[in-house]
Amino acid sequence: MRIVRQIDELRRAAADFPGLAFVPTMGNLHDGHLALMQLARERARHVCASIFVNRLQFAPSEDFESYPRSFEADCARLRAASLDLLFAPDETVLYPEPQTFVVEPPTIAGELEGHFRPRFFHGVATVVLKLLNCVQPRIAVFGKKDYQQLHLIRAMVRQFDLPVEIVAGETVREADGLAMSSRNAYLSATERAEAPHLQRVLQKVKAGMECAEAVQILTARGWKPDYLEVRRRSDLAAPEAGDQERVVLAAARLGSTRLIDNLEF
Ligand code: PAF
Repeated sequence: MRIVRQIDELRRAAADFPGLAFVPTMGNLHDGHLALMQLARERARHVCASIFVNRLQFAPSEDFESYPRSFEADCARLRAASLDLLFAPDETVLYPEPQTFVVEPPTIAGELEGHFRPRFFHGVATVVLKLLNCVQPRIAVFGKKDYQQLHLIRAMVRQFDLPVEIVAGETVREADGLAMSSRNAYLSATERAEAPHLQRVLQKVKAGMECAEAVQILTARGWKPDYLEVRRRSDLAAPEAGDQERVVLAAARLGSTRLIDNLEF
């Protein structure tokens, strides 16, 4: 595996790997990330990942400084997964000057996650656009766990005519149903035992329960839900009668940890 830290170095290395598949990450890799690498490998001969904790997508009150960083362990996992190329830029490489141009995402970015994290998708879209420009992959893989992020990246790629195919990876879960996430590491033992209930209430909504009741159940169990809503899959708008393809999306705090999850139906 080649590790590159500079953009010109990356471009030279990427030229050796035509038709590259790309998996952007913020590191602290778990089996969910590795499943995305595997999916990338099934779709392309060569796979590149990036590790970059993107300050632009964190609000000042959020966990940018304390976000788990485990570069050596991540590299070991990526080598074991036979990754070809890793782009691991410093902040000064990706943001050598203040990033005053930013991607302005559509209004849906102000709902759900964006309602609670107002500049989050500006930061995500901006760094993903930069990373895609740097790596210039043929395909890029994103997980469905970040459902709204996936939706917005697809829209950005379409509307800016970016020459890349976006591939969606299914959410990887622990044996008890908890969606894998770097932030699961923040959970205490008691919270970890409670955490799978987020997915369990989403399954109840899929089976017909009203969202308001699901919120009540979570609240009674000690969660602080930010949102739990059913949306239309195609554009994440509120579903209308006859919309068959739906998704229920939720974010809720357990202690100081904020978890998100979703379920298509
Ligand atoms: O999903 C993530 O890990 C991040 O939002 C991403 C896509 C790597 C951009 O920083």
